Amino acid sequence: MDKEETVDEVVRSVAETAPHISSGLMHRREYVGEQNPSDEEVREADVWANELLKEQITSIEGVGQFASEEEKIITDCGEGLAVAIDPLDGSSNIPTNNLIGTIVGIYDGELPCKGENLVAAFYVVYGPLTTMMVALNGDVNEYVIEERPGDDIEMYLVGEDLEIEDDRIYGFGGNKNWTEEFREFESEIAEDYKLRYSGALVGDVNQVMHHGGMFAYPERTDASNGKLRLLFECNPVSYIVESASGASSDGAGSILKVEVEELHQRVPFFAGHTDMIRKMENSL
Ligand code: AHG
Ligand code: MN
Ligand code: MN
Repeated sequence: MDKEETVDEVVRSVAETAPHISSGLMHRREYVGEQNPSDEEVREADVWANELLKEQITSIEGVGQFASEEEKIITDCGEGLAVAIDPLDGSSNIPTNNLIGTIVGIYDGELPCKGENLVAAFYVVYGPLTTMMVALNGDVNEYVIEERPGDDIEMYLVGEDLEIEDDRIYGFGGNKNWTEEFREFESEIAEDYKLRYSGALVGDVNQVMHHGGMFAYPERTDASNGKLRLLFECNPVSYIVESASGASSDGAGSILKVEVEELHQRVPFFAGHTDMIRKMENSL
């Protein structure tokens, strides 16, 4: 299989797995009393979704490495592209039935590596609908995934070549420990933009992709690199936003250029409308 075919196979495989994840959450809501490599409580759903996706992705010809937010080390599984996933993003939203998702980055490079090595990225949003936002070859397309009889799925194209043109909303996390500079920036933004914050990166970014605006999870006074993980969350989402003519930043420049020291590295994260990102960089 060539790289394009492998990418298509990874997208298809996750799309086929998505309805199983969505329907399997019901009995896996509780914490399992373990910590993930980011020292965070994990739910049974995090572990289970990771196992399901790992089995699918590592069996695809042309995938050579698999890494996950839920696993300490990288799994070598042959030759080819490297796939890094956040199997369930926003899993603390499960008990309250808010949006959650799955994030996938496909790198043509040895993990851990910079976001510039991404050749595709996509996320699934589990909500009233199960949707998938896919960035590939410079375009961003959105699909609704419909479960069909016999474990089959249909992917309906509902958004083609999406661009972040408007700037209407903002969603900034970590507010209890913002720096003074960020607090001032947020109070300026709050005067002109509508607040939308759900506690799941994929849900919040998906709103920015549709309504236009900006998402941020900045450094905190108690965590200088913020909360979100570079390899599994920020790089893939930045690739999607930048493919939609938006911008990403760690406060200084594109997330995709951030040097990677270790697999579970966190990074201050900003993504959305280019003008808003530039305004943030000039004010922090
Ligand atoms: P995960 O469930 O994969 O650990 O991700 C949760 C992340 C991200 O989805 C979201 O933006 C952020 O946590 C929300 O953090 P707060 O709960 O601090 O708002
Ligand atoms: Mn996450
Ligand atoms: Mn997660």
